[in-house]
Amino acid sequence: MPKTLIEPFRIKSVEPIHVTTRAEREQMLQAAQLNVFKLRAQDVLIDWLTDSGTGAMSSRQWGAIMEGDESYAGARSFYRLQKVIEEITGMPHFIPTHQGRAAEKVLFTAACKSGDLVPNNCHFDTTRANLEYLGVQAEDLVVAEGLQPERRHPFKGNIDLPRLEALLQREGARIPFGMLTVTNNTGGGQPVSMANIRACAEMLHRHGKPFVMDVCRFAENAMFIKMREEGYADKSIREIAREMFSHADAATMSAKKDGMVNIGGFIVLRDERWLDAARNGLIMMEGFPTYGGMAGRDLEALAVGLEEGLEEDYLRYRLRTAEYLGERLDAAGVGFVRPTGGHAVYLDARTVLPHMPIEHYPAWALCNALYLEGGIRGVEVGSVMFGKRLDDGSETYHSMELVRLAFPRRMYTQSHFDYAAEVIAELKEKADSIRGVRIKRQPRFLRHFTADFEWV
Ligand code: F0G
Repeated sequence: MPKTLIEPFRIKSVEPIHVTTRAEREQMLQAAQLNVFKLRAQDVLIDWLTDSGTGAMSSRQWGAIMEGDESYAGARSFYRLQKVIEEITGMPHFIPTHQGRAAEKVLFTAACKSGDLVPNNCHFDTTRANLEYLGVQAEDLVVAEGLQPERRHPFKGNIDLPRLEALLQREGARIPFGMLTVTNNTGGGQPVSMANIRACAEMLHRHGKPFVMDVCRFAENAMFIKMREEGYADKSIREIAREMFSHADAATMSAKKDGMVNIGGFIVLRDERWLDAARNGLIMMEGFPTYGGMAGRDLEALAVGLEEGLEEDYLRYRLRTAEYLGERLDAAGVGFVRPTGGHAVYLDARTVLPHMPIEHYPAWALCNALYLEGGIRGVEVGSVMFGKRLDDGSETYHSMELVRLAFPRRMYTQSHFDYAAEVIAELKEKADSIRGVRIKRQPRFLRHFTADFEWV
């Protein structure tokens, strides 16, 4: 058998991307105030800002789009998607939303009150923001390995069960439910094992608490379980996914990831505990319960996408692409969060720019350098994203300086990855020429999206 794992698809429709010159990129980055979020996408060669909503749909999905039933109430497309979701999740209640954060807002508004506390392995930014907006404390309890980039562990997304038990005992009265995010995006796209999912659910249930999963990347997580956890090698991805869901009482989904669509999301519920409140909230915030935040055609595309996202050949290729880039980085001596995750590779900027002081934001600097050198756009996950300017003008910094390269699904081929590996290796060679930045202007919250920078 040949060793090369090929893309398990052929390309039917293409979108040109444009090579720019270094001088043009210098100018464009300057115009964007040294913040890649403010670049125009057309000026980016390889866009690895996010895997969310950026993937390529299949010809079957485009075909399904024509089948969309746009009826306000009771659309055929709703029932079609409901059936697919029920088969995968085993949950009878399905509430469509326009994307993941809307699902979070609707569910949390129904299930939480001010003063509550919600544990998770790691809350994604919007999950945390939606909780904090309601006055709820969001607590991250990922295992210690999950915070150490170099440390290898097959399931770095696992929640720390003894800490969860202690929290439940100490703060139980404030906890309306517990969560797990699969895979753990904030911690490097790292999977959670079935054993951990099961134990977390049992612990919560023992304390009388429901268990909610954030399942944006549940199919990638299921594939990791198949490859790494004893007893799952011969199970299908669908069976594994079904088992993951069997432990949960509810889930929120951003369908822009493993749903393989450009927009969409949903909530699923096993029982009626939050159903009425969530549906009422949905009508106010998103739309009538049979379309929520989606058009009928989007419901159709998702019904097909969810099934395609569970195909084993696709998932094997998907996880292999990240691993392949990791091998190339290893050869170049560039550090990254190990092992590589499902949807992204997280470069450890410290290994490229060991001498750059933290005040010059090394991960932000590397992110800018990736664009200047190769037209590649990633996202800083470091002290700009997680640090803060305090009222006295001083700064707090983050414990890690990472650059996330997140891969849109079915979009870039192996040569794009080879090119990126070369660009990153070259940057390591000329690290001395990479400049740090200073923040010129920043908003109070979520500063990375809109802050302006200048070169040090
Ligand atoms: N939960 C997780 C784990 C996520 O990664 C995201 C989005 C959301 C919830 C929110 O979903 O974007 O559909 O509203 N993550 C994207 C990213 C934005 O780039 O990682 P959404």
